[in-house]
Amino acid sequence: MSKQYKVAVVGATGAVGETMLSILAERDFPVGELVALASERSAGGKVEFGDEELVVQDLATFDPSGVDIALFSAGGSVSKEYAPKFAAAGAVVIDNSSTFRYDDDVPLVVSEVNPEQARNRPRGIIANPNCSTMQLMPVLAPIHKLYGIERVNVATYQSVSGGGRSAMEELGRQTAALLSFQDPAPSKFPVQIAFNLIPHIDEFQPNGYTKEEMKLVWETQKILGDASIQVNPTAVRVPVFFGHSEAVNIETKKKITPDEARTLLRKAPGVEVVDEHKAGGYPTPVTHASGKDPVFVGRIREDLSHPRGLNLWVVADNIRKGAALNAVQIAELLVAEGLPPKAARS
Ligand code: A2P
Repeated sequence: MSKQYKVAVVGATGAVGETMLSILAERDFPVGELVALASERSAGGKVEFGDEELVVQDLATFDPSGVDIALFSAGGSVSKEYAPKFAAAGAVVIDNSSTFRYDDDVPLVVSEVNPEQARNRPRGIIANPNCSTMQLMPVLAPIHKLYGIERVNVATYQSVSGGGRSAMEELGRQTAALLSFQDPAPSKFPVQIAFNLIPHIDEFQPNGYTKEEMKLVWETQKILGDASIQVNPTAVRVPVFFGHSEAVNIETKKKITPDEARTLLRKAPGVEVVDEHKAGGYPTPVTHASGKDPVFVGRIREDLSHPRGLNLWVVADNIRKGAALNAVQIAELLVAEGLPPKAARS
């Protein structure tokens, strides 16, 4: 008999939560009952789960006892307050916010890279990495294992969906406004995003980097289990709806040629190599990543300026692999380890 889990999605009306619901249905996750949770303002509304409609419940008044697995994507303050309550009630929490990511007793898991870490969860919480780190890991992990990565230089080109539903609405609204010669009026973003780029995501840190950039440093070191890897990031928001891109330069201990990298990455789980030297022979957010599961990699070439340098272009759907898909893949690891459903335990 298949195991039937009570699964809660916290933030079910959001861009990531909605995709979590569709991926759980798509991948036929062994759901016995699904609870869709959001704020009081959405309670009573409906969300889709496969061909069912679920009534959204208010997180603040919901009793978590009985929940087996809770997928959180409702922002850091919601995770901070409610994730420990769900964990205390016996649920395993898979949290998409940055609240617990850097705590030593919370594993930070990319399903293809360090799945074994998901078992080591003393607080009942597993953290899902930030989208820009997430897509980089399935590409860098196999290279690091065989060639030893010393340094990563990365510039990101991050789509607005990473900022949630209101950010997508702002790009749409500003684009329409500008095309009809009206004022684009920024509100979610600090400056106009339509027909523009913004080299600022999340808060500035004392060292001049933004928190989004520091997430790439902290999370790469934690996931690859190597604090000696040097990471130098620049994170940029671009007027693309779905799909983050990254121009990546790595320096390895042992030289890796482009051919060796292609061969290695063709075998890497969750990675697809798209690397032809012709127009369109490379991945882009719209032509490849949007709505798809894999991380796409192309433009693989030797760094002309460094004897052990390699350049890569890495693109993925930030809402799917960058957030919702990996959270569901972590939930699948729990099923694979034989997490007993609470209903079966009582
Ligand atoms: P709501 O729709 O009720 O605001 P996004 O990142 O796409 O903006 O989505 C954020 C998600 O987090 C939404 O589902 C949102 O629900 C939910 N959320 C935000 N604040 C709270 C809160 N205080 N309690 C519960 N859910 C929240």
